[in-house]
Amino acid sequence: MDTQPEKPKAGPQDRLAAHLAEDMAAVNALIRARMASDHAPRIPEVTAHLIEAGGKRLRPMLTLAAARLCGYAGTDHQKLAATVEFIHTATLLHDDVVDESQRRRGRPTANLLWDNKSSVLVGDYLFARSFQLMVETGSLRVLDILANASAVIAEGEVLQLTAAQDLGTTEDIYLKVIRGKTAALFSAATEVGGVIAGVPEAQVRALHTYGDALGIAFQIADDLLDYGGSSATIGKNTGDDFRERKLTLPVIKAVAAANAEERAFWVRVIEKGDQREGDLEQALALMARHGAMEAARDQALRWSGTARAALEVLPEHPLRDMLADLAAYVVSRIS
Ligand code: IPE
Ligand code: IPE
Ligand code: MG
Ligand code: MG
Repeated sequence: MDTQPEKPKAGPQDRLAAHLAEDMAAVNALIRARMASDHAPRIPEVTAHLIEAGGKRLRPMLTLAAARLCGYAGTDHQKLAATVEFIHTATLLHDDVVDESQRRRGRPTANLLWDNKSSVLVGDYLFARSFQLMVETGSLRVLDILANASAVIAEGEVLQLTAAQDLGTTEDIYLKVIRGKTAALFSAATEVGGVIAGVPEAQVRALHTYGDALGIAFQIADDLLDYGGSSATIGKNTGDDFRERKLTLPVIKAVAAANAEERAFWVRVIEKGDQREGDLEQALALMARHGAMEAARDQALRWSGTARAALEVLPEHPLRDMLADLAAYVVSRIS
């Protein structure tokens, strides 16, 4: 039986969902209508498996919230929100192949249930569908933002691929990776909401800054949870990053502070990939010795503060407060 991720206590994302319930219902209907295919039954099988498992729908909510908070009264923001979730879902299908992951959203991954080929091809299909959806808005500027984000996400994933197993990976490179693979879609999601509403440039920029900083804080938190969270809460297996020999922020910090003996450990498990029973626990102990988790958490908190501060330029609105609370919430999981 599938174990769904535990329901977190009502947080700002639930208030956002309640406030945006009508919009979100329309987005979910759009997603269902467009994820189908008349010609290849494998497509709806795979997409339904992933989409019906839920997911937090964080990114489409960002688009809806940004548009509404900017006074948008039309319905194109729903198409953009569905576009953003399609891009997200496509990247998850591809990411789980690349990471050889076995759990997603509390279910076995599509690559495990079907195969890598299906995940790659259905991911491509969803990408293409997302582009069809955004074209329907007729806004070249929106197309530019989302097409750019899609390229930047892929760049981030490729950069991460080449940085994995490399103990020379710096915090700067890490920031580039997560800004690409994660924050680019967050910032595009919020920015297009403002663009479609036609607000002044300063507000569009503020929405971009908010999404960028929120995405960075979110990914640092996600990377910390890979070491410190529970599989039940995050709906994914923990320890994946260690097994994949990824240089995430707490590891980069622990490596930077390592003495000769500790460095030899990191060389063996990360560079050589010679991992044995008890190594994950040893990695955790070394991170604790150097306060690496706390330092990474502080960095996430600072990005969360940057996100909140960016909102000041935007009009006063209950949704603005919810976005501010959301910035606090994404790091509350690790505080
Ligand atoms: C997962 O994102 C991918 C990352 C950027 C870490 P989410 O945690 O938002 O995934 P879902 O959509 O809620 O499953
Ligand atoms: C998230 O990266 C995937 C993308 C943003 C494309 P990760 O590999 O770090 O996230 P999870 O842990 O699989 O969700
Ligand atoms: Mg992954
Ligand atoms: Mg990955």
